[in-house]
Amino acid sequence: MRKVICLIVATLFISSVAALAVPANKTLEFDKSPMGAVQFDGTVHKNAGLKCKDCHNSEMFPKMKQGTVKITMDEIYARKLCGVCHNGQRAFSAKDNCARCHVKK
Ligand code: HEC
Ligand code: HEC
Ligand code: HEC
Repeated sequence: MRKVICLIVATLFISSVAALAVPANKTLEFDKSPMGAVQFDGTVHKNAGLKCKDCHNSEMFPKMKQGTVKITMDEIYARKLCGVCHNGQRAFSAKDNCARCHVKK
């Protein structure tokens, strides 16, 4: 019986950690652009050493919920939202790398 309880507790613990780590192990798809859908891979960003608050702050993506911020290229080129990093300094530049974000299906 003890073993079973341990197992249940362990499973609950692991699943709550996994839920917290969203989107670290999750990919969000932004599919509103005519250029093709953008896959935002949480793991790639976590592995690049980024912390939640690097993106989830009042200037960028305050809410941990998809669809709360409208993302436009004007803002990205102006070094806002994804463009805070995707400007050729912290990460590849948006201007020259459309296809690294937008994938036509
Ligand atoms: C590189 C930027 C970035 C980092 C780092 C990041 N996130 Fe996010 N996260 C986003 C964006 C962008 C969205 C979508 C926001 C929107 O559409 O308004 C999002 C959405 C989410 C969502 C909602 C997912 C859904 O299905 O609606 C959760 C939960 C979340 N993030 C948690 C986290 C946690 C926890 C961390 C740290 C481990 C983290 N994020 C790190 C950019 C990031
Ligand atoms: C806080 C900095 C930061 C923000 C904000 C950020 N990224 Fe990134 N992103 C990175 C870094 C660092 C890498 C990995 C290094 C590189 O490829 O230049 C990366 C890599 C990527 C990749 C390449 C994935 C692969 O498979 O090679 C894509 C696509 C991407 N980001 C899309 C986005 C999108 C879309 C947003 C906005 C919703 C965003 N990023 C916001 C820092 C950021
Ligand atoms: C760092 C990732 C990234 C790169 C690189 C990128 N985009 Fe985007 N783009 C996005 C995201 C995220 C959206 C929002 C999509 C959505 O809301 O579904 C978007 C939206 C768009 C839109 C529709 C909204 C608007 O602002 O007009 C167009 C058109 C577009 N991108 C064209 C381009 C072109 C052309 C390039 C290359 C010169 C490019 N994008 C490079 C991430 C990127």
